[in-house]
Amino acid sequence: MNAQSRTKLSQLPEWTALAKHREEFGRTHLRQLFAKEPERGSAYTLRVGDLHIDYSKHLVTDETLGLLRDLAAATGVAGLRDAMFRGEKINTTEDRAVLHTALRAPRNAVIEVDGENVVPAVHAVLDRMAAFADRIRAGEWTGHTGRPVKNIVNIGIGGSDLGPAMAYEVLRSFTDRSLTVRFVSNVDGADLHEAVRDLDPAETLFIVASKTFTTIETITNATSARDWLLTGLRAGQEAVAKHFVALSTNADKVADFGIDTANMFEFWDWVGGRYSYDSAIGLSLMIAIGPERFREMLDGFHLVDEHFRTAPAEENAPLLLGLLGIWYGQFFDAQSHAVLPYSHYLSKFTAYLQQLDMESNGKSVDRDGNPVEWETGPVVWGTPGTNGQHAYYQLIHQGTKVIPADFIGFASPVQDLLPGLIAQHDLLMANFFAQTQALAFGKTPDEVRAEGVAEELVPHRTFHGNHPTTTILAERLTPSVLGQLIALYEHKVFVQGAVWNIDSFDQWGVELGKVLAKKIEPVLTEGTGGEDLDSSTAQLVAAYRALRGR
Ligand code: F6P
Repeated sequence: MNAQSRTKLSQLPEWTALAKHREEFGRTHLRQLFAKEPERGSAYTLRVGDLHIDYSKHLVTDETLGLLRDLAAATGVAGLRDAMFRGEKINTTEDRAVLHTALRAPRNAVIEVDGENVVPAVHAVLDRMAAFADRIRAGEWTGHTGRPVKNIVNIGIGGSDLGPAMAYEVLRSFTDRSLTVRFVSNVDGADLHEAVRDLDPAETLFIVASKTFTTIETITNATSARDWLLTGLRAGQEAVAKHFVALSTNADKVADFGIDTANMFEFWDWVGGRYSYDSAIGLSLMIAIGPERFREMLDGFHLVDEHFRTAPAEENAPLLLGLLGIWYGQFFDAQSHAVLPYSHYLSKFTAYLQQLDMESNGKSVDRDGNPVEWETGPVVWGTPGTNGQHAYYQLIHQGTKVIPADFIGFASPVQDLLPGLIAQHDLLMANFFAQTQALAFGKTPDEVRAEGVAEELVPHRTFHGNHPTTTILAERLTPSVLGQLIALYEHKVFVQGAVWNIDSFDQWGVELGKVLAKKIEPVLTEGTGGEDLDSSTAQLVAAYRALRGR
């Protein structure tokens, strides 16, 4: 791979061919595509592990898909993918390997970074996590006063929060319901306050999750949590060892904070924060669902890793989904991408994907530092679908914007649903299927008229349709299926970054705000500095100080 010498995307003949094809495609309607190819539903379906992926309701033909695959070939997606799996330093701006795939590799795999096989270390940490999780689950890990730990509070932010918090919700039906598991991320003291206000410190374990162990929100919350604990226990620093563990790559900073590094679960700089919840960052989840279920989830990830690495382009689901996103973003001016799960348990799924996708591909320079002349990552948004139907679906159905959407649903409800609620599942899923049908095919003015609607209301009650969707259906929401879904999206994001020739694994864009916040804080608290503030910020800061009576 030599990314430096790549021809600009917009100058590639494969790109020009897609632009021409888009012109020819014009306003072709999904109704026409299905009329022309009645078996499109089964023809445009992929099966990956437990995931049944229907992409027939997309504005594409075989020719479109062929041209998109040509683009992937011309931009070296497969080469970059192989380099990632081999452990090459494809995160060039940070000179790091990108090896979240090693976190779920089997014990006997060999994956080298700088000549060293990282797989034994991955499994050593997983084994330590498992032993620790088992002790907590068995009530054998006791706190400072000798009482077993029953409450787990994960303190972290971004990738050190969103993954485990999301997965804990998704897999609630697999959790030990006798444990209370909470997640604190916001530096707003209200977050920690609400998390601990009804907890007994003697039974509470804090997991401080931070790759760098320098993130101000996390260290501030962890410090406050330590104060809360020691005050509540009327104990000194010696109580920390029984009530705090750390998940980090930075042993020195963990020790500086006062956590014994014997209670640290390590990961490595080749794991990006937003790709880390299957590393030690998943400890809270492992405690909740148990090591066996956690390993099932890792196996699910690995299954899709292997699919992405080996499946031919025509059958490669992450490749396909990534290319579809490029098609809409560049050639249909789609600015956003909706992810609409039909499962209450996936309520935090889209928020998780926001970091995965938007922190990875929210970039405007290519790998060589040149401004990009093409659209990069979309705004990712969405909430559980049935709730969305009564909120923002109106805009998807009848608004002016192109919003490609993923619909995710399951054939069976979760394992421990109250028997009286099982019948509701068919209603949920009827909505799931009806929405993609309505979005694709709409309702023509003639169909509206045939219902006897008054002529002046016909335009209002017409559905143009032609809104593209992917449907992902699985038998049941299990740990393995969750792993499969996340890996699918991880690799989709990878494909897009590879085509766009951007570094999907850095996040320099989050730095400026952090630096400015550090400068503004003393202006708020002490009224010092701030001479160089712009007039807008200066007057806002002055108003804040006045309201605080300073
Ligand atoms: O500020 C963004 C970020 O660096 C994310 O990429 C990361 O997931 C998050 O902060 C938390 O970082 P850390 O795990 O080092 O505390």
